[in-house]
Amino acid sequence: MSEVTPDFSHSGTTIDELERFKERAYEARKTLLEGTGAGNDFLGWLRLPLEYDKKEFARIKAAAGKIRSDSEAFVVIGIGGSYLGAHAAIDFLSGTVQRPGVPDIYYTGNNFSTDSMISIIEAIGDRDFSVNVISKSGTTTETAIAFRIFKKLLEEKYGKEGAAKRIYATTDAKKGALKGMADKNGYTTFTIPDDIGGRFSVLSAVGLLPIAVSGADIDMIMQGAAKMMAICAEDGFRENPALQYAAYRHLMMEREKSVEVLCIYNPSVRSFAGWWQQLYGESEGKDGKGLFPTGVTYSTDLHSIGQFIQDGSRVMFETILYAENSNNRIVIEEDEEDADGLNYLAGKTLAFVNKCAMRGTARAHEVGGTPSLLIRYNKKNEFTLGQLFYFFEFACGVSGYMLGVNPFDQPGVEYYKRNMFRLLGKPGYEEN
Ligand code: PA5
Repeated sequence: MSEVTPDFSHSGTTIDELERFKERAYEARKTLLEGTGAGNDFLGWLRLPLEYDKKEFARIKAAAGKIRSDSEAFVVIGIGGSYLGAHAAIDFLSGTVQRPGVPDIYYTGNNFSTDSMISIIEAIGDRDFSVNVISKSGTTTETAIAFRIFKKLLEEKYGKEGAAKRIYATTDAKKGALKGMADKNGYTTFTIPDDIGGRFSVLSAVGLLPIAVSGADIDMIMQGAAKMMAICAEDGFRENPALQYAAYRHLMMEREKSVEVLCIYNPSVRSFAGWWQQLYGESEGKDGKGLFPTGVTYSTDLHSIGQFIQDGSRVMFETILYAENSNNRIVIEEDEEDADGLNYLAGKTLAFVNKCAMRGTARAHEVGGTPSLLIRYNKKNEFTLGQLFYFFEFACGVSGYMLGVNPFDQPGVEYYKRNMFRLLGKPGYEEN
């Protein structure tokens, strides 16, 4: 049985009504599993939890051990699918993983901000550091510029040979500028398989090396993903959270909702919402179709965007991602004076208050015309994280095929680059 379970209490529907989408969901799943749909040359992620390269997996663990032993800082250079999964995982597991000797992890190569670059360089200071540059194409401008900067810093500090021992390149097996540089300079390389696109790559070396450096147990992540893989592929509609989630999104589209808000109640899950946003935005937002995916952190954002969600344009529905159990426990204590009037909560945990906020908000939003599907999971750990990654990926493939788009391409991402290259004077882009 899945430890990721949809709860329809405030969804504006029932599992019975949702069964109306069952056949379409089954059809989309069949297309996905049989590889007969658009983008079927990018389905390598489907069986990854079982069929990953075991030798490369061992190399990832060894490299992570070396980085932990010789680096106080670790710089992950990549953009989009090349870093969002690792960022999601590392933040999600923060506070749950014991991390003696784990370097501070920084993310760059995902913007052109001078301030951001300087603040990372300053934060690293004189400390020993290593770099993981991640780019499938090997030519992404944000990533390439950041890598040029950090490669120079490494070479100045450790010399060319010393620097090469601290550069880990995750890229295509054979082609691309980064692969060429890695081969020429002797960097340790890891492979992004040809048949796995960026946003579906978290369970490959793309995500796994930084996650392993953070001290997380990547075996458990793969085991969780493998469990979810079996559930998604085999189980019927009522036992299958991914099919139910895909169906719910389509019911919401039918009801003319155009915005899906992923609500989390723990700031450490915010980066996971960023990963989810790219997954669904890039997979479904095409041909004039798709739900606009966005994320909020509650209860924080109830004091900013809560008014709109309760009462503004009725365009959205919510997907609440919620851990049933906390890894830690804080009890609110009795106060003799009770000047703040909080003694009615004495003896209750902070997690209890959070849960009441979640249930109360879901009910209020439902009444206001913003229904929500609650996706509950047991607690934050590697095993559930693996399940969640695979759950959202699989549901995305199913949902994309139900929508009639190719969930595995991203033609729209190229447009900004052409204009930017023309303005930058990149050869070959003079006319646009
Ligand atoms: O999901 C995707 O395919 C994209 O987000 C890419 O991961 C992103 O554009 C980075 O590309 P690359 O890995 O080629 O540098």
